[in-house]
Amino acid sequence: MSVGMPSPLAPEAVPPSAPLLRVEGLTRHFMVSGTRIDVLHDCTFEVHRGEIVAIVGQSGSGKSTLLSLLGLLDRPSGGEYVFDGVNTSRLGEGPRSRLRGEGIGFVFQQFHLLERRTALANVGVPLVLAGQPALRRRSRSRELLEAVGLGHRLHSKPHQLSGGEQQRVALARALSRDPALILADEPTGALDADSSKMIMDQLLEQARIRDSAVVVVTHDPKVAERAHRVVELVEGRTR
Ligand SMILES: Nc1ncnc2c1ncn2[C@@H]1O[C@H](COP(=O)(O)OP(=O)(O)O)[C@@H](O)[C@H]1O
Ligand SMILES: [Mg+2]
Repeated sequence: MSVGMPSPLAPEAVPPSAPLLRVEGLTRHFMVSGTRIDVLHDCTFEVHRGEIVAIVGQSGSGKSTLLSLLGLLDRPSGGEYVFDGVNTSRLGEGPRSRLRGEGIGFVFQQFHLLERRTALANVGVPLVLAGQPALRRRSRSRELLEAVGLGHRLHSKPHQLSGGEQQRVALARALSRDPALILADEPTGALDADSSKMIMDQLLEQARIRDSAVVVVTHDPKVAERAHRVVELVEGRTR
């Protein structure tokens, strides 16, 4: 063996990296006309960068509620949520929304695009919120739409696009600030099989390029089988 070559028997020197997110004993209940409804009892898991995690469970089991908590769109009733090294339970609204804007991209089942705006303008929305100048937004949005295969539909409005194309616009929008975490709530729920496959191909490819983590809520076994790990929600508990 030549000098300087590491021994094949040398132990791995790389320390295990900290998770991108960790939830521990997370709970969420709602009060409805004086009655307490316990939706999440005890959710505990970690997600590392580059990991693809599927969340599955029956309708009404609390998957969207959990995703809202992970996205900092909602606050837990109890437990801990650490995102990117920050314990979010002690954060005020300003820092929470900054953390969300910089670190998290969202894809929803129903796309949630602005109907009267073009694909280019829709993708640029998070960049407006980030205070980027118009020229930079346009070039960035164009680049993202090209990356998801929509370079020819920059000026189309949502109603001029198919469901699959609209979801690709939503994906490009989610990627606009290179989030460390991409959250997707039934992203293929409104799509046919071919469009579903295409969206998942692109979501996973874009996450791989960025080393982003993906947490995807899904009913679709074809989506869940592409995850590295499946977290099941049963009666408000993860397992
Ligand atoms: N804001 C709310 N107020 C009261 N109940 C809610 C609220 N949000 C969700 N729930 C209830 O929590 C349960 C889980 O909802 P959800 O997280 O949407 O489930 P899933 O996404 O798994 O279908 C449901 O029974 C729902 O009615
Ligand atoms: Mg849901």
